[in-house]
Order: sequence, then structure tokens, then C-alpha cells
Amino acid sequence: MSFLACRVFNEPQIHHQLVEMETDELSKGDTLIKVDYSSINYKDALAASGRGAILKSFPLNAGIDLAGTVVETTGPGLKEGDTVIVNGSGLGESFDGGLAQYARVDSQFVMKQPEQYSSRDAMIIGTAGFTAALAIHRMEVNGQTPDQGPIVVTGASGGVGSFAVNLLSKKGYDTVAITSQSSMHDYLKDLGATEVKNLSELELSDKPLAKGVYGGLIDNIGGETLSRLMANIDLWGNIACIGLAQSPKLQATVLPLILRGVSLLGVSSTNCPMPLREQLWYEFGKKSPLPDFDKILSKEIALKDVSPYFEELIDNKHRGRLIVNCQ
Ligand SMILES: NC(=O)c1ccc[n+]([C@@H]2O[C@H](COP(=O)([O-])OP(=O)(O)OC[C@H]3O[C@@H](n4cnc5c(N)ncnc54)[C@H](OP(=O)(O)O)[C@@H]3O)[C@@H](O)[C@H]2O)c1
Repeated sequence: MSFLACRVFNEPQIHHQLVEMETDELSKGDTLIKVDYSSINYKDALAASGRGAILKSFPLNAGIDLAGTVVETTGPGLKEGDTVIVNGSGLGESFDGGLAQYARVDSQFVMKQPEQYSSRDAMIIGTAGFTAALAIHRMEVNGQTPDQGPIVVTGASGGVGSFAVNLLSKKGYDTVAITSQSSMHDYLKDLGATEVKNLSELELSDKPLAKGVYGGLIDNIGGETLSRLMANIDLWGNIACIGLAQSPKLQATVLPLILRGVSLLGVSSTNCPMPLREQLWYEFGKKSPLPDFDKILSKEIALKDVSPYFEELIDNKHRGRLIVNCQ
């Protein structure tokens, strides 16, 4: 069966191309899925443009997220017609990804789609929303509570940031959203941010310890901002370290950790163990009210039109989530 895919090649240099391919050419696995929706994450943009070393082999279909319908399977607990989600776990990194009309994956990475939300909503969540939920989970398991003070969220208007602000506010946390785009203030307030600040106007201390004004931090950008904001986290606050949109560098001292009990928590959505992954995806369906999917969705794109959006994401010309209708 032939189908359309956004495939990444490494010759003469890394680039992507929309190609017609056969299901026989897909990576090995016991479950063939017709992909209904996928999404574009920062990582997909790095992979498809070659700006980041994301793919483990070439050629490979891009896309770290998919929601679709099982076409063939010999996997335990799955049957033809099941609606399913795959995110991370090597999808679009080690084996062919979700930016295609079909994907073949191993059933150990396949989750049943929760009934409380649609495949389309699942891809509005995607890796971005899942990662925000994973970060909040890690912080709360480590004792974070709303009465410790506001959670500061960097890269707030992006996919992870938008979900972080929205999920935190629905849980009763005050949030301070940090954005590099002044035009995003109303959007972030609408998602539930208590306060919105421009990244360029943020007062960052040079000292290893400064006034503890934030209860915790969800960081999507790394670099100087993360390094210096650490000094402002109050007693026993948690820092969830997610991204590197500004820089992968971290230059900090141990003082917030050893004098304030601040914890620096790593968040890796790709490697999240399956039981916790399933728990967090099912919890999205139990949230009351559900996250503001319609507000966070910025655009639905057809698979054939994805190309320009990779650069747009890297150049920070977007907000919220981009989903891809694959059929
Ligand atoms: N650890 C994990 O498992 C995991 C999972 C998902 C994503 N990530 C990482 O987390 C980050 C966010 O991912 P995403 O999918 O939400 O991407 P995204 O939608 O592109 O959001 C990134 C946001 O960061 C800010 N930003 C972009 N370039 C910047 C720069 N040069 N300096 C400062 N801020 C900048 C922008 O927010 P403002 O315009 O509001 O400033 C942008 O919207 C990425 O680095 C991604 O690789 C990690």
C-alpha cells in the first residue's frame, strides 16, 4: 500500500522531503497504524531541518507523536480498529514517526486512546502537553504545592509552556509566564497566567542566591535564564528542566540546592516508563475541566503542507500547538 510521508534523509546533508512510500518500507514492528493526526514539536523541527542531531538512523519518517487507528496487529491487548496514541519512546527518532499516513511500531509503545477526548485533542496535547504534565507530576511527587508561591514558566507561549501555564492554573497554582514576545500577553492571561513578564525585562540576579520570589520553575529554554532564575527559587521549590530553546548550557552554583533545599528535576518525555506515561495520558481525560484545547491549538495543517512550519517553529514565529491532519 502506498502512502505520503515526511521523510528525513542525510545526503547530501540532512533534509526532509514529502515522499510516496510503501508500508513494506516502514520500520519493523508488530502493529500497523493508520495515522489520523500528528503534531509538530520543537524536536521535530530540529530533526527535519537538521538543526539538531535527533535521528538515530536515515532515512526515517519524522514525527514524535501520533494518534491513529490500528490496521494490523499481533500485539497483546490490541485489535484492528482500536484508536491509539504513540508518543516519544523512539517514534520519529529510532523508528519511523508519525508525520506520515501510516506508521509501524512495536505494541509495547502503543497506548489505547482515552475515551474522554478525541484523537485530534490527543495531538493538541502531544509530546508538549504530555511533557508539561510530566514536569508537574515530578514537581508534585517531590512535594510542590500551590502555597509555596507562584511557578515561573519560561518559553511560556510555546507548546510545553502553554500547557504548563494552563494545567498549573487549573490546579490552583499562581503562575508567572515569561515570554520573549510582547504580543503573547493576552494569550497567556487567557490560559490562566497570573502574571506575564517579557523575557528581556526580567530582572535576573548575578548572585548565586537572590530573593526567593518563586515557588518553583518550569523551564523550556535553559541557558542564562535557567542558570540565573535558580537563584530566585524559594525554600524547597522544584525546578523542572525541560528544554534548551535559548541554550543547552547551565552555569549555576549549588547554593540554591544546598541552602534552600531546591531540587533540580530532569524531565525526559522520550524515556518516560510506560506505566507513568499511560497514567498521565489517562489523567488528561479525568481533568475537570479539561485543558483549554481550542485556545492552545494555533493551527491545523495538512500533511502535504508541513515543510514551512519546521523553520517557523525554530524561528519562534508561532504560539501553542501545531497539529497535522495526516489523512
Ligand atoms: N525534555 C523533554 O522531554 C522535552 C519534551 C518536549 C520539548 N522539550 C524541549 O522543550 C522546549 C520547548 O518545546 P516546545 O515543543 O514547547 O517548543 P516551542 O513550541 O517551539 O516552544 C519553545 C518556546 O521557547 C521560547 N523560545 C524559542 N526560542 C527562544 C530563544 N532563542 N530564546 C528564548 N526563548 C526562546 C518561545 O517562547 P516565548 O516566545 O513565549 O518566549 C517558544 O515558543 C524545546 O527546547 C524542546 O526541545 C523537551
